[in-house]
Amino acid sequence: MPKTICFKNIGELIQVESAGPPKIRIQRNCALVVKDGQVLDVLANAGIRPKSYDEVIDLKKRSVVPGFVDCHTHLIYAGERKEEMVARIQGSTYLEALEEGGGILQTVRETREATEKELYLGARKRMVKMMALGTTAFEIKSGYGLDYETEMKMLKVGHKLRKSLKVPITLTYLGAHAVPPEMNKAAYLETIIGHLKEFRELADGIDIFCERGAFSVTDLRRLFLQARLMGFQIRAHVEELSHSGGCYHAARLGALSCDHLEHALPKDLRAMQMSGTTAVLMPGVTFFLANSQLPPVHTMIEKGIPIALATDCNPGSSPVYNMQTVLYMAAHMYRITPEQAISAATLGSAKALGQEEHFGGLLPDQQADFLVLKTDDYRDLFYYFGDNLVQTVYRKGNVLSGEQP
Ligand code: NIG
Ligand code: FE
Repeated sequence: MPKTICFKNIGELIQVESAGPPKIRIQRNCALVVKDGQVLDVLANAGIRPKSYDEVIDLKKRSVVPGFVDCHTHLIYAGERKEEMVARIQGSTYLEALEEGGGILQTVRETREATEKELYLGARKRMVKMMALGTTAFEIKSGYGLDYETEMKMLKVGHKLRKSLKVPITLTYLGAHAVPPEMNKAAYLETIIGHLKEFRELADGIDIFCERGAFSVTDLRRLFLQARLMGFQIRAHVEELSHSGGCYHAARLGALSCDHLEHALPKDLRAMQMSGTTAVLMPGVTFFLANSQLPPVHTMIEKGIPIALATDCNPGSSPVYNMQTVLYMAAHMYRITPEQAISAATLGSAKALGQEEHFGGLLPDQQADFLVLKTDDYRDLFYYFGDNLVQTVYRKGNVLSGEQP
């Protein structure tokens, strides 16, 4: 049955009009009208006629922002990596752990052993927590199998999550995350390419970790040229710990997003600008790995490159669930404004998934995915560190998590 809901008495309503350059619109003392799960209109609070709606909900002067879109996660995995964390605090590095057969490969061993049900329950629990903290759409990568069966198992779990949770989930095949111990790199890359068709049935996108100790620019080009023919969305882990040139080539091959980018050079940014590729930034990784190099965020913004924020939630480089924490870190580490950070975590992140027409901005005709904050000032998200300021999470105009104000 068609249903029209009026969310009245909004203290401040944030809509995101653009992600590149970031631009938000703030309206005060207004009402948001939602029809069949989509934004219909924004009205002055004084002008609403309650009788014309099926339901009227009083938001008690709170701040309303679009739901967060987490466009880069590795949420399906087994085990944790706390020994690695403690070793790193004492001076070892992320890539040393991988070289010694730990790091990503430790999670691979544990994920191979886990059943589909165990992986499903673990990921579901994480996502429920993330939704309560304000995330209303996700991207999830495979990449802890590095063999056909386990990669398939991970993507099947992704589909089960899609069925059971009422949020959009984009799935990405990340077979090229690391080289499995039982194979050499060239042979493994050929098996990935040989199975692309089967993986395309389960995954929307393809990804690669282009870095010393993982895959090269030549591997990236070989993989993406094939994947592109099969209609995979292209995204890539590039220029994270060193400069490889992967960003330039991924952008030239039409990447929807290039992710990390701490070591990106002007030439890489020019390629992204030309191709309309979104830059996905993940301050949680920089913080957790104690890296000093920050991505050239201000140049990206000046060039009109859309920027997105994501958790990169994973057990090795970013065990963070909370997009509020990511927004906070982005503003203070990158020195970007609250408005720029909000735009990146919502519409920018939706753009990185090719979904910006459907959600992200809380704009007319987009899905009504939004957060009612515990405050009447969205800047509190950037002021109080470590607090949870999300009171209620709405997805398509219905409560997804939390208590109605
Ligand atoms: O995005 N950089 C490579 N991949 C992940 C980390 C995965 C892991 O360490 O388990 C990342 O940081
Ligand atoms: Fe990642």
